[in-house]
Formats: sequence, structure tokens, C-alpha cells
Amino acid sequence: MSPEHGGRLNQAARRWGIPRQDWLDLSTGISPWSWPVPVIPEVVWRRLPEDDDGLATVCREAWSLPAAAGCLPVPGSQAALQTLPRLRAPCRVGVPDPGYAEHALAWSTAGHDVVALDACAIETALPSLDVLVCINPNNPSGKLTDRDTLLRWHRQLADRGGWLVVDEAFLDASEGDSLAPYSDRPGLIVLRSLGKFYGLAGVRAGLMLAEPALCECMDKRLGPWAVSHPARFVMAGAVQDRDWRQQQRQRLRQSRQALDQCLLAAGLVPQGDCDLFVFCSLPDAGRCHEHLARQGILVRHFPSLSALRLGLPGRKADLCRLQQALRQLKFS
Ligand SMILES: Cc1ncc(COP(=O)(O)O)c(C=O)c1O
Repeated sequence: MSPEHGGRLNQAARRWGIPRQDWLDLSTGISPWSWPVPVIPEVVWRRLPEDDDGLATVCREAWSLPAAAGCLPVPGSQAALQTLPRLRAPCRVGVPDPGYAEHALAWSTAGHDVVALDACAIETALPSLDVLVCINPNNPSGKLTDRDTLLRWHRQLADRGGWLVVDEAFLDASEGDSLAPYSDRPGLIVLRSLGKFYGLAGVRAGLMLAEPALCECMDKRLGPWAVSHPARFVMAGAVQDRDWRQQQRQRLRQSRQALDQCLLAAGLVPQGDCDLFVFCSLPDAGRCHEHLARQGILVRHFPSLSALRLGLPGRKADLCRLQQALRQLKFS
């Protein structure tokens, strides 16, 4: 069965009988503010993309990559994480639980033996694993894993030919340290996304950082022109825009703090280290999800965790709308 994802507004509109345009969609961790995409020159639409167009160079600078690391633009980190399992013979793979379910699906579909691990189980399981996938910060819990721990896990795996895959899709919006500067180390694979922090999920753009040979294998699997020319153009502009990045960090931080206040006032406990979303465990998560949906506010419900994940309300009016809807609920 395909994993569920946030952002399915058409489905929500049908289920709750509320027109699409009336929803406040807080069901994803995508920034409500996108990098302002300029007019795309006609030639960019007309001509095929060329992989020596300088995009890799600007990405290398933006993420301080070592010269010996490979840097491959991909059509969303999803494309990389779903192709990666096919670059390795069947083996034993640890995936985070909770965690973005596409990782487990991709590895099991490719015939690997997949073990779901909660954060506390990783150390014990590590000696029996060939590959470990970490999402940093985790989606949905928002928990960060520190750099030294990740590097230690990587060393243990790499010593026996294993891989550590670090999914940093949400890292730009947290205080965590990227493993990008270490991505020349054999067996370390770092995935980055332009979808979340840059608010450009629609363009389908991301990066795989790893040993050059592995990036080449991925490149071959994805085939020619996998990242469209407009996507490459937008990506290059976005990653070079340091001022915007700075402004975005501040804006996301303030918005996360305001959301925390709103949830605390309603008796909820906001959790997680990522400024793009909040994770809340609560005994009656299903009731809260349903109550919000009936008022046209869509959040992500994780029934097995009895938890909700809420993205950032971008405008003050959106935050007020959430505040009012939560006020009508009593949390035990
Ligand atoms: C943890 C995580 N990794 C990767 C992805 C894929 O994102 P994209 O393909 O837009 O880069 C998602 C999407 O929600 C995600 O939550």
C-alpha cells in the first residue's frame, strides 16, 4: 500500500464537503513562503538541460562540499531515495520508525530486509545492519540526531562496506548540523531537498551528495535530463540567495514560536526541533484532527502514534483561525 502524505487537498475537499479554496492546509512541512521565482527565460524552457551548466558548482559552494564529494541534482530527494535501494544487492536495512514511510517502502520493494527502528533501538541494531537510514531532523517527530553520533554510526557501517543514508530534507530549518561537508566519505549518502525550506516542492528538485562513483550510478539510473531545465534554473537561483535564506530562517523561527504559543494556550505540548512543523502527541489526536477538518483546517494525523503534525500557518489570520478552532476543544 502506498504511504499517505500531507497536502491532499482535493481528497480533503471531497471527504469533508468543503471547497478546496476554503481550506487552511497545515498538513505538510512545506514553508508557506517560497523563494520568489523570477521569470524563466524562454531559452530555458526551449533547450534541454546540460549537466555542466554550473548548478553543481553553486550547490557545492552553498553546502561547503569537499572537492572529492559527488554532487548530483535530482528531481526531488524522493527520486533519489526511491532509486538508491536498487544500487545495492539485497541486504539488511534499518529505517526510522516513526519516519517518512517512503524509505521503508523503497528498500522493501527492492527486495531488502527492512527493520523499523525507533531512535533508542539503533545502537543495538547497528551491528546487524548493512544500511541505516536516518532522517535528520526526523519527519514527523522533528527530532534531531547530532552530527557526532551520525558520524560514529557511519564509521561502523562503512568499516564493513555499509551505508549511512542521511535524509536532510528538513535540515535547513533547524539548528542541526549537516553531514554534507563529510559527503566524500565512502558509504555516506546525504539527501537534500529544495521542497521544504525553499517552499519549492512543486518544482521537484533536490540533491544527492555521496562518493562520485555512487552519484554516477544514480545518474545513470535516473537517465538523461531527469531534472528539467526550469528546475535547474530555479535551483541555481535559490541556493545562491544567501540574503533570502537568512530572512527565511528568521521568518520560520518566529512563525514556529507563534505556533508553539498557540498550541500551548490550547493545552497541547509542541514537540520537535524543526521550524517547519510541530509534532504533538495527544490521547485524542483523532478527535482533534476531525474537529479541525470540519472547520476546514487540515493537519496530518498519525493514528498509530496518536499524534498530529502541524505545518506553519503563514499569515496572522491563519494562526487566528487555528487558535479559534482549538479553543473549542478541551484537551485532557
Ligand atoms: C523526510 C522527507 N524526505 C524526503 C521527502 C521528499 O521530498 P522531495 O522529493 O520534495 O525533495 C519528503 C517529502 O515529504 C520527506 O518528508
